[in-house]
Amino acid sequence: MENPADCGRTAASMDALRITGNKRLAGRVQVSGSKNTALPFLFASLLFDQEVAFENVPRLWDVETTLKLLQEMGCEYQWDKEQGRVRILPRVRQKTASYDWVKKMRAGILALGPLVAKFGEARVSLPGGCAIGARPVNFHLEALKRLGAQVEVEEGYILASVPSRLKGCSIVFPEVSVTGTENVLFWGAFAEGETVIENAAQEPEVVALGKLLQSFGARIEGLGTSVVKLVGGPLRAPQQSISIPSDRIETGTWISIAMATQSALEITHAAGAELGSVLKAFRQMGLGIEEQEQGRILKITPGESYEAVAVETEPYPGFPTDMQAQVLVNMCQSQGVSHMRENIFENRFMHVAELRRLGARIETEGNLARVEGLTRLKGAPMMATDLRASASLVVAALMAEGTSTISRIYHLDRGYDRLDLKLQNLGADVTRVAQ
Ligand code: UD1
Repeated sequence: MENPADCGRTAASMDALRITGNKRLAGRVQVSGSKNTALPFLFASLLFDQEVAFENVPRLWDVETTLKLLQEMGCEYQWDKEQGRVRILPRVRQKTASYDWVKKMRAGILALGPLVAKFGEARVSLPGGCAIGARPVNFHLEALKRLGAQVEVEEGYILASVPSRLKGCSIVFPEVSVTGTENVLFWGAFAEGETVIENAAQEPEVVALGKLLQSFGARIEGLGTSVVKLVGGPLRAPQQSISIPSDRIETGTWISIAMATQSALEITHAAGAELGSVLKAFRQMGLGIEEQEQGRILKITPGESYEAVAVETEPYPGFPTDMQAQVLVNMCQSQGVSHMRENIFENRFMHVAELRRLGARIETEGNLARVEGLTRLKGAPMMATDLRASASLVVAALMAEGTSTISRIYHLDRGYDRLDLKLQNLGADVTRVAQ
């Protein structure tokens, strides 16, 4: 197969977004496929010897990084970006996920799941540091050892090997881990006997991976609860193209943008059904959200004024950490003082310093942010630090009077499918500039 996919990463990596804010947007915007579902789904192709096809794949750098990782292992792929279709021919020659790719995307740790499950061996780079905290992978490694694998860390690489076959057992996660649970789903689906996961992540992306494995013939119970049970056995390759569901965080980000710009927007292909806690917070603030077709369509009506709220991030079905940065900006619109407590990652207020440069009145103390409302933001140059922080800077720039320039938007391109073009279609004054 040819490999035409190249997002022009090097050229685009220094792009900036220039945004002139305080403009009302109008129209309809379509949500793309979910990043955090697409990545484990693409890695799942490693489980098979024949071609696996995907639809509704979002155009993201993290997707490109995943495909490059698979290519490095020997797989061939085709990516039709316009159609959102990916075909992977899994020809694994080396069971290695190298630092070159894993350092760009922590989700590279998901390579450990299918490689060990299918081949009984893997060499996967440790992800390393990250702007939002230490983000270790110890839960993954402890679980893999309990399942009977030999696991060493040498020269920055996780070396895993399975003497005979993984053996089902009980895994208790000390804290909820999304990719940790996903890796155990891969291992449990192949292990001998029953694997029980306690304190399993209940995130929709985990449920989606579990259902995908079920469609391959895996026996899994309890998906979407904190106790998941699997019995390993042979899996069969998919006969049909696998469709990636809509992105719940992109959906939430459009709600945040609608509120920030006081715009009546219609969000289609929305993941409203997976956003209960987020919709609740926006409604408490005073935003009108009408759900149609079980949340597939969301119609947003701006409020005349907004109330202060107290929100804390929690594992699903609680309020997602990946929406914290965006909602923090909306809190600047409310009357009174709002509070945001970040319980998942220890260093996830990097965007606050940038938002203050626009005039936001946000104080942080440990994992608590205190936001004074009714603040008029003024455009300024800003620097993106991580994926969701970048989204919050875009929301703030759209709200602010005057022009902002957000540099290092490669962070944004990792996880948002052509956000600038979608914004332009809604009438926003947004330009991508090379820096
Ligand atoms: C996933 C999501 C990310 C989201 C996060 C929390 C993907 C690709 N990424 O990241 O967008 O922000 O869930 O919803 O799906 N922890 C450990 N040891 C481990 C694993 C995790 O201490 O081995 C800690 C982390 O540092 C963090 C918490 O557990 O404090 C949750 O992390 P986890 O759910 O594992 O995050 P990711 O799966 O990396």
